[in-house]
Amino acid sequence: MHPDLERVLFTPQQIQARIAEVAAEIERDYASRPGLVLAAVLKGSVFFLTDLCRALSLPLRLDFLAISSFSPGAGGGRVRIEKDLDLDISGQHVLLVEDIVDTGFTLRYLLETLSARRPESLQVCTLLDKTSRRLLPVPVHYRCFEIPDRFVVGYGLDYQQLYRNLPCLGILRSGIFRG
Ligand code: IMP
Repeated sequence: MHPDLERVLFTPQQIQARIAEVAAEIERDYASRPGLVLAAVLKGSVFFLTDLCRALSLPLRLDFLAISSFSPGAGGGRVRIEKDLDLDISGQHVLLVEDIVDTGFTLRYLLETLSARRPESLQVCTLLDKTSRRLLPVPVHYRCFEIPDRFVVGYGLDYQQLYRNLPCLGILRSGIFRG
């Protein structure tokens, strides 16, 4: 285990097993909906996206967007798109791929922004969900893991841009995390 982790929440094997289950749900639900676009939010969801899409045998396209966000405490929960999707999603079935849903501010903003482009459908798939921290109700259609209110890193998730490359998901030691 990495010395900066307090404990491992999910091993690489557990992550892959759960992704396979969620991918099976997505395959079933989208079998009759051609033209799936997986829209991933950079950078945290990249590892999840690449494993999820390889577990799907549906025809699909990938796209990415990047955002900057300020936590509700720091700036009223403001979110801004820094890099937009390349694809025109109007009339497409879009599955937004997130690393983690926390307060819900980021997801609410993304759903409002993307639904204004008139996709045929717009659903959400998240790796992690901190439901106990939710401030805004947001729809989460697919979730791999619900987690406690602790700061988690690894498998794409960062703290100050570090730890994304850890293969597991783990709780960062409180001496290192200053939230
Ligand atoms: P929300 O807008 O409060 O739902 O925050 C979502 C964003 O907060 C995520 O996309 C992450 O960037 C960040 N975040 C929240 N909790 C964690 C965590 O435990 N580890 C890493 N990033 C987190």
